[in-house]
Amino acid sequence: MTVWCFGSINIDHFYRLDHLPAPGETLPATSYEVELGGKGANQSVAAALAGAVVRHIGAVGADGASALAQLEGFGVECSGVQRLEGPTGHAVIMVDSAGENAIVIHPGANRALAAGPALKALEGAELGDILLLQNETAHQAALAEAAMGQGMEVIYSAAPFDVGAVRAVMPFVNVLVVNAVEAAQLQDALGVGLEDLPVESVVVTRGSEGASWHARGTPQIHVPALPAQVVDTTGAGDCFTGALAAALSEGQDPEAAMRFAAAAAALQVSRPGTSAAMPRRAEIEALLGESG
Ligand code: RIB
Repeated sequence: MTVWCFGSINIDHFYRLDHLPAPGETLPATSYEVELGGKGANQSVAAALAGAVVRHIGAVGADGASALAQLEGFGVECSGVQRLEGPTGHAVIMVDSAGENAIVIHPGANRALAAGPALKALEGAELGDILLLQNETAHQAALAEAAMGQGMEVIYSAAPFDVGAVRAVMPFVNVLVVNAVEAAQLQDALGVGLEDLPVESVVVTRGSEGASWHARGTPQIHVPALPAQVVDTTGAGDCFTGALAAALSEGQDPEAAMRFAAAAAALQVSRPGTSAAMPRRAEIEALLGESG
């Protein structure tokens, strides 16, 4: 089954620092790099390197040729990417010596993209294909509704968290992926527990505490995180979700798919960067083999 990823494409500007700046503080960066990022592109790359056939739907601006070439270079099919006139989305990412980050994004083309061509691109999907989406574009609910109407499986990573966006998309979602903070925000906003959210399944990622799969009427599945030497946590959630989608697209059951995704994320956080840090399938399988 193909993974269709409707999502952001950013140019990530990485600044490494001893610590994240306090308000009013000016700090020299110890390094500066530019690479392909965006939650959508990161998830596409993670899924493709994990072995899935991936088609990306999104947009870049006039300065997006390099980002697009990088996405294609990772094996992601990009005919559904709109070329717009304004700027490509970008992110300023500061990473401290413990691997923690602070990120500012400018949406650019991600929010300016048109619904019509995106929906048209999705018409090529087949029954049982997966639509993977996040919160950094426009028109998520329209794409999710169309996908569900076509008999696709919809996996929605509700990041960056926005309760209004989640409410709009949730009726058209099969698997909702949130981190622990987002899960708490969502339960507070809707006044219900995880098992009572109106989706088939909720996956909660908890960093070094692993991840859990909640589905109404079935026992919760928990998988531990694998030990990792953390260098940079940026994009770890994107890696987990992309690898999870890849595993589900080949028919792995939820527990096996989460173990696969947890192994991918453990590899990703041990390297600097976002898309450039995504692991290949052979590495994921080797780590899974080592960890028994
Ligand atoms: O999740 C990490 C991503 O968030 C970065 O690649 C950045 O572009 C922002 O979208």
